[in-house]
Amino acid sequence: MKAAIYEKYGSPDVVEIRDVPRPQIAEDQVLVQVHASSITTADWRFLASAFPGLLWLPGRLMAGLFRPKKPILGTEFAGRVVSVGSGVSAFKLGDDVFGFSGAFGAHAEYIAVDQAGSITHMPDGFDHAEAAALPFGAVCALVFLRDFAGVQKGNKVLIGGASGGVGVFAVQIAKALGAEVTAVASSRNTELLRALGADRVIDYTRENAADLGEIHDVVFDTAGTMRFARAKKMLKPKGLFLPLEISISDSLIGMITNMFGGKRIAVHVNGDSKQDLETVAAMLRRGEIRPVIDGTYPLADIANAYARVETRHKTGSVIIDIAGRARTRVAA
Ligand SMILES: NC(=O)c1ccc[n+]([C@@H]2O[C@H](COP(=O)([O-])OP(=O)(O)OC[C@H]3O[C@@H](n4cnc5c(N)ncnc54)[C@H](OP(=O)(O)O)[C@@H]3O)[C@@H](O)[C@H]2O)c1
Repeated sequence: MKAAIYEKYGSPDVVEIRDVPRPQIAEDQVLVQVHASSITTADWRFLASAFPGLLWLPGRLMAGLFRPKKPILGTEFAGRVVSVGSGVSAFKLGDDVFGFSGAFGAHAEYIAVDQAGSITHMPDGFDHAEAAALPFGAVCALVFLRDFAGVQKGNKVLIGGASGGVGVFAVQIAKALGAEVTAVASSRNTELLRALGADRVIDYTRENAADLGEIHDVVFDTAGTMRFARAKKMLKPKGLFLPLEISISDSLIGMITNMFGGKRIAVHVNGDSKQDLETVAAMLRRGEIRPVIDGTYPLADIANAYARVETRHKTGSVIIDIAGRARTRVAA
């Protein structure tokens, strides 16, 4: 099968398309022919060894200290089941499925996935590209807003980086939870964010949200451009700052502020549970969320797809059309 391989850290052009053996499945696994995947920010961080600040060393230990441990990246996939292990009952041949790869490997024509892993049936009416755009951003936004922030009906939530891979879902999920949402992004994304349900959009190239005097229950920054000192100006007295890009200084401040019961910061990492995947699939079915696709690239053009992700200005998800069949319905 064809797969995108990287054997050293670096710029997008270190990725090569090569022929490698198809994965063998165990009795509790399914083999999925991957029709579409995406380049998530996590894939790019692993490719470029772009782990922020003091997280460089832990990131590098996870990815491989001297060279990458896992040569095939790819966090999320959508495709068709083409083989099932003898112990599999949840899926059958021909099922359209999507989910998290668990430990990368989705930038390839086939992937073996545990039936108990984070994999579920694709909602009817959506294509593989749309399904592949969902897991990473939607589950992250769900877990941060519902679980870590406990967003309730009527809360005021500000989302920084609202047009990115996580941000587009954060806007929609905060609305679905009943919040009043302020989205922060650059001017070219204003109309999209309104269409996704934002009550207010702040163009960060013209205005500084921290200077506008509005205060919120939750400030969720996906862009990594806010520190606690700035976020505090936008928070109610017991408000919560949730930065998605983890900084050691904010983590330490967090431990201290949480002891006093005032404005707080919480630093977390989300998982990739099957249950949360099924929750976002159900939200998609009900029309509460929809994916936003920045662009679709063939597997052979994966270097250009990485280059787009590296800009940190993609809008929603960058899709890799692995089976050559994706129909691209761009958002907005
Ligand atoms: N802690 C966790 O468990 C976890 C989970 C998932 C992701 N993450 C991290 O979360 C971050 C977000 O991921 P993502 O995929 O959503 O990233 P992304 O798609 O690259 O989105 C970047 C966003 O940042 C905005 N932005 C860029 N420069 C900005 C600036 N100077 N000021 C304000 N906004 C700016 C962009 O808006 P414009 O294009 O409109 O400028 C865009 O909306 C990444 O660092 C990722 O590693 C962490």
